[in-house]
Formats: sequence, C-alpha cells, structure tokens
Amino acid sequence: MTAFATHPALRHYWHAVASSAAAGSGPLAVRLLGEDLVVWRAGPDAVGALRDRCPHREAPLSAGRVEGACVECPYHGWRFDVSGVCRLVPSAGEGGAIPDRASAPAFQAVERYGLVWICLDDPAAPLPEIPEDADPAFRRINAPVDIWRTAATRMVDNFLDIAHFPFVHRGSFGGATATKVPSVELRDLGDWFGYRYEVTAANPDAGAAASGQSAATVRREMSTGFTLPFAVRSTIRYDTGLQHILLLLSTPRDDETSYFTFVVWRNDDFSVPAEEVTRLDRLIGAEDQRMLERVPGTLPLDRTDLVNVQADRASVEWRRRLRELLR
Ligand code: FES
Ligand SMILES: [Fe+2]
Repeated sequence: MTAFATHPALRHYWHAVASSAAAGSGPLAVRLLGEDLVVWRAGPDAVGALRDRCPHREAPLSAGRVEGACVECPYHGWRFDVSGVCRLVPSAGEGGAIPDRASAPAFQAVERYGLVWICLDDPAAPLPEIPEDADPAFRRINAPVDIWRTAATRMVDNFLDIAHFPFVHRGSFGGATATKVPSVELRDLGDWFGYRYEVTAANPDAGAAASGQSAATVRREMSTGFTLPFAVRSTIRYDTGLQHILLLLSTPRDDETSYFTFVVWRNDDFSVPAEEVTRLDRLIGAEDQRMLERVPGTLPLDRTDLVNVQADRASVEWRRRLRELLR
C-alpha cells in the first residue's frame, strides 16, 4: 500500500470537503488528509474550519452548535471564531478573562461551485477554474458529497480511464461503448491535461434527460483531463450542441476513505429538473464506487508496480506528476 494522504505537500492544495448547504445546517465534522476538522457557516460569505478538538478538554467542536459567527463547544460552552480565537468562556462570565492559549488551529476555507474547500497550509495553486460557471448560457447543478471507502488515488485513476466503460458501466451507458480504446494522445486542454475521444453510448431512460435525445444510442465527443492533485474535468459534447461538463472531485479523508462529489454545468434550456439531469451521472458514480470499494488498499504510485497499456496513458501521466508533487 502506498500511503499518501498525510503527505505534507497535499496540505498546500484546495480540497472540497462538504456542500455549502450542509455547512449551513450546523457544525459539521469533516476529515481531510487525516485531520479531523469542524466546518460551519460563520456568516453570509464566511465559513470557518478549525481543528475539531477544543483546547479546554478536547471535546469535538463539531458536536456543539453555531452561535452567531462562532462555534460553541458542547462541553463547557467556550466559543471560537473563524480565526480559532476563543471569544467567550462562560464560567468566567461576560467580559471575563480568556486564557491566551485558548485557541484552536484554524484553516483557510472558501466556498465555490456550491462547495466548501479547505486548504490546510499556504495554497500552492488556485482552485480549479471552470469558465462556464460565469457563462449565463450554463447552469450549475450540485450532487451530494458522499464518502467512498476507497483511496482518492484509485478514484482519479478511474475517472481518467475509459477502458472500463463497457464493463463497469454495462448497466448504464456502457452497454453500447466499444471495448477497443483508440490511441490516447495526451494534450493540454486549457487548464487541464488529458485527452479527447469519442464514444457511442447507450442512452437508457435515465440518460435521456441528460442527453436531451431519445435514440437508443448517442454519440458523445468527450475530453477528460486532470489538475493536480485530484480534480478531473470531463466535457461531453452531443451532436445537438449540448454540453455537459462534469467536475469530478476526490478528496482524501485518509488513505482509505474519500469524499466524492461532482458538479455539472450544462448549456441546456434549464427546463429539465436538476435531479433528472444528473440521474445518469449518479448511477454511473454508484457503478464506479461499487467497483473501487472491492479493490483493497491505495493505488501503487510507482510506475513499475502495475501493468499499464496504451489506454492507461492519462493515468500513467497523472501518477507521474503526482509522484513528483509528493517528492
Ligand atoms: S471542552 Fe470545550 S469548553 Fe470545555
Ligand atoms: Fe467509471
């Protein structure tokens, strides 16, 4: 097993840990790169992220409640602001002395694309940029943030791979996809690095809302690329001009469990409800999850540890760059 989740280099990148909606419903316990954190909405434009351990008697702050802009510890009611500074010690009375050391380590948290992102150290790179987010022709749809019992490395490897479509996704769109993968030519795709390809996909009932077509099969022009460490963008273009963009996000909670969520942008006429439009994507995600949760351990990152074929080129290149980042 290749341990990676607690590598200090990963602390310099933004990771999606929760939906904005979930952060608004009270303090939330999240785990990121082996660290337990509490996340809460501290104001209309502010989310807080602190170590989930009260400096007083080490109670989890995530079991407490939100009071104004602060999170309140469930044990003795100490209140902490987004910078981790204790603002109230109830036993000392209003305006009572607060010990200098009464603070919890605080981390940078921002909201973008309907998600809360955390960076545990100075950011080495900005969040992934999706220009279509600012384009009024596109709408954004969020999926829930789920926990997969697999390594984030295995997820990215899977999201860059099309050779599994006719097998893992036989029950959704993969029934009509070719098993032979054309030669993979890697290239820059704007901010992303990956490849372009075409697939003929089955178009089941669940997919008709996504493709906007009712034929048994649909042609998709696709491009799939990554940015380090764990973001993948897949753009599907249908012959009708409809684009369906998927941002696939894998966040290591630790080496063996990860958050998974995806965000969709579409230039449709906005008439089909979001739930229906993403039904196929959720089905596909469940198929990938079922497969990956059967594979034990994290992904070996060393090139020679696994057998690779031409169809694996994108993943091989992503692993090479991830190894460099972790060096
Ligand atoms: S343990 Fe948090 S206030 Fe005492
Ligand atoms: Fe898949």
